[in-house]
Amino acid sequence: MALSALRKLRANRKNRAGGADRSSASGKPPRAADGEILLETVGLTKTYAGADGELPVLAGIDLKVRAGEILALLGRSGSGKSTLLRCLAGLIPAGSGTIAYRDEPLRGANPGTAMVFQTFALLPWLTVQQNVELGLEARGVPADERADAALRAIDLIGLDGFESAFPKELSGGMRQRVGFARALVVEPDVLMMDEPFSALDVLTAENLRGELLELWESGRFPTRAIVLVTHNIEEAVLMADRIVVLGSRPGRIKESFEVALDRPRDRNSAAFEDLIDRVYRVMTGRVKETRVPGRPDEVEPDRRTPANTPLPTASVDGLSGLAEMVAHRGGRCDLPDLADDLGLEVDDLLPLVDALDLLGFAKISGDDLLLTEVGAAYAGADVQLSKTLFAEAALGAPLVRLITTSLRQNPEGTLRAGFFRDVLAHHYTSEQVTEQLETATDWGRYAELYAYDADPQEYRLDEDEQPPPSAQA
Ligand SMILES: Nc1ncnc2c1ncn2[C@@H]1O[C@H](COP(=O)(O)OP(=O)(O)OP(=O)(O)O)[C@@H](O)[C@H]1O
Ligand SMILES: [Mg+2]
Repeated sequence: MALSALRKLRANRKNRAGGADRSSASGKPPRAADGEILLETVGLTKTYAGADGELPVLAGIDLKVRAGEILALLGRSGSGKSTLLRCLAGLIPAGSGTIAYRDEPLRGANPGTAMVFQTFALLPWLTVQQNVELGLEARGVPADERADAALRAIDLIGLDGFESAFPKELSGGMRQRVGFARALVVEPDVLMMDEPFSALDVLTAENLRGELLELWESGRFPTRAIVLVTHNIEEAVLMADRIVVLGSRPGRIKESFEVALDRPRDRNSAAFEDLIDRVYRVMTGRVKETRVPGRPDEVEPDRRTPANTPLPTASVDGLSGLAEMVAHRGGRCDLPDLADDLGLEVDDLLPLVDALDLLGFAKISGDDLLLTEVGAAYAGADVQLSKTLFAEAALGAPLVRLITTSLRQNPEGTLRAGFFRDVLAHHYTSEQVTEQLETATDWGRYAELYAYDADPQEYRLDEDEQPPPSAQA
């Protein structure tokens, strides 16, 4: 496929000699020179209305997107990547600060961007060509021009032959090609992509990435810059000229990396691996010089609260499985290697790593995950001992501790889940509150600290944990 797309491209180039000037007919601004600033945010903040008050998502983002670059926005789930992308595209308004496209403050949808979504977002009742024409229709382009442009985009992206197919007849990779063609057909200055490869199988994703890069490198890509949202470090290092890492709660720029590697990039080269390691350390927040006091992963154990130290989304089974795997490797292992062996991304393991860290079962040292003494004991323990060790450790997790101590102080040893929901709603979205409570329920149940009855949504101290009769008086 990569080759056929490239051949198409060369043919197109011959047919459209000197086609660099796309501006005249469509009334678009002249082609931006390399380095020219296309998008710029200054002090961009964004908050969402939560169950109780405002939830800060982005805080003080200063970002420039320049012509000629592929910029990757990298961050963990919930760090505000999609929110930032939507703000840049003008799909949602900024809270405060400014967003400009070619020096013009943005009002409403950004005329210089088009978006590719993770989930393709195709209309099932329209053919490939009709789906691709949609963007032009919305911009009032006449029917014959629309058809021409759509066929060109379809050709460019390797979809020719599929013009009259419906989305349901296509594989995931082909559907995402339609997503690309639909965005490219409007020849936006900046192509915005929100995790465009993450719903595809590994090989399809790899093939599409390669084709996209070939098109970009060939100079015939009909956009001047690409903003790629991803949580995949390797994808960012493979594709981007610059990587901006967002931290969480609220999203801030943690660090920027220039990727000065020649293309096509060799994943096995030392420089490639070195950059992966550096980005990885910033992503995990474990690099001393990038630490910001007061960040959630920086809170001293005795100052942790359910508000500043959320529970990682990790089940007891998941975190125990990881502890066992590390134990089998001698109590220490290189995380990127482990992820590789398991066919996972490092970031898939991060919630489990965070959980082991929070529980005091493991520590991060460079790229290595190291079991602590108690972590090693936990990994090797029988069920009873592992429950005892887990119970002690889980009381160091603020939400588990809050639930346990609240129940202990309540004469009946029971409390409605709504109580904890309300407490958490001050700091989290309702989705996050649900996740926090699900994890706390899983951990507390396994630790036999408390039980949870879904009907009537009530936490109850475990029998062995019931308050003594004197406390019930
Ligand atoms: N419309 C909304 N209303 C309220 N909260 C929202 C809304 N959209 C996102 N959020 C919250 O804002 C935070 C950032 O969300 P966002 O989708 O931008 O993150 P992300 O980095 O793209 O995450 P992911 O990797 O999971 O896609 C999250 O905590 C999310 O729950
Ligand atoms: Mg997202």
